[in-house]
Amino acid sequence: MQFGEPSRTALAAARHRAAHQLLEQGRIFADPLAVPILGEDGETIAREAEENPSRRAMRIFIAVRTRFAEDALACAVERGVRQLVVLGAGLDTYAYRGTLSHILRVFEVDHPATQAWKRRRLDEAAIPLPACLTFAPIDFERENLAGGLDNAGFDRDRRTFFTWLGVIPYLTAEAVWSTLGYIASLPNGAHVVFDYNDPPDSLTPEMRALHDKRAARVAELGEPWVNYFESDNLRARLTDLGFGTVEDLGPPQIAARYFPNRAIAAPEKGGHILRAATV
Ligand SMILES: C[S@@+](CC[C@H](N)C(=O)[O-])C[C@H]1O[C@@H](n2cnc3c(N)ncnc32)[C@H](O)[C@@H]1O
Repeated sequence: MQFGEPSRTALAAARHRAAHQLLEQGRIFADPLAVPILGEDGETIAREAEENPSRRAMRIFIAVRTRFAEDALACAVERGVRQLVVLGAGLDTYAYRGTLSHILRVFEVDHPATQAWKRRRLDEAAIPLPACLTFAPIDFERENLAGGLDNAGFDRDRRTFFTWLGVIPYLTAEAVWSTLGYIASLPNGAHVVFDYNDPPDSLTPEMRALHDKRAARVAELGEPWVNYFESDNLRARLTDLGFGTVEDLGPPQIAARYFPNRAIAAPEKGGHILRAATV
């Protein structure tokens, strides 16, 4: 991220969610606040997305990862989860849509500069802050997540669900494993959903070309992708940390679950969405 500036990729992800509402009518992930929180004209968002068809795959992936995370959260709440931590929240709107807000305590953790910008966006869009929400400004690379959450009033003894969407590719391996270690150590169990990418050298030439184009784009925004995982190693390491459940959807599993009626020849490698739980 650029020093002192809000995350540009958070804005890009939010525009993808908004375009998904406008162009695909939110078929995968419906979010009535996706357009309002941006404070931008819907027609312009839709037109820009249509003029850049190569961005469609990323838009759909972002819709899928958010839908997967919120479905998994709803199941976890049925099984006793009462706290949600949205790590690297960007312009995520879950807390403001009121879903389950009567039983869930929500903490939004983000880089201080991005969080301050989000609060201005919420204010300008007249989206009220729900009573269940607490903001925790934390830089994952420099600050301790445990301490930051404790200061915000997080209850370590409550079973907790963490979402961590679109963040891991931007962080060092050290910052990622320190956070996953903390989540695994919570005494009464925790769930986490995050997305990650297969290493570039494992991709087909077509996927590699697409990856390189996107990687160049985010690097230009000052937020380069620096972190990839090889699936088997990741699963083994998560299991070692104490995550007894690991559900990892790669491109073929995502296509089978979310687009079963379309004959999509999904590549073997690409973007993954993963759910892990210690309970
Ligand atoms: C691509 S955006 C994703 C935002 C949101 N989760 C979504 O799906 O729209 C990346 C997010 O990671 C956050 N982030 C990146 N590096 C960070 C760091 N070192 N500490 C805290 N947050 C960070 C950014 O502020 C931004 O909100």
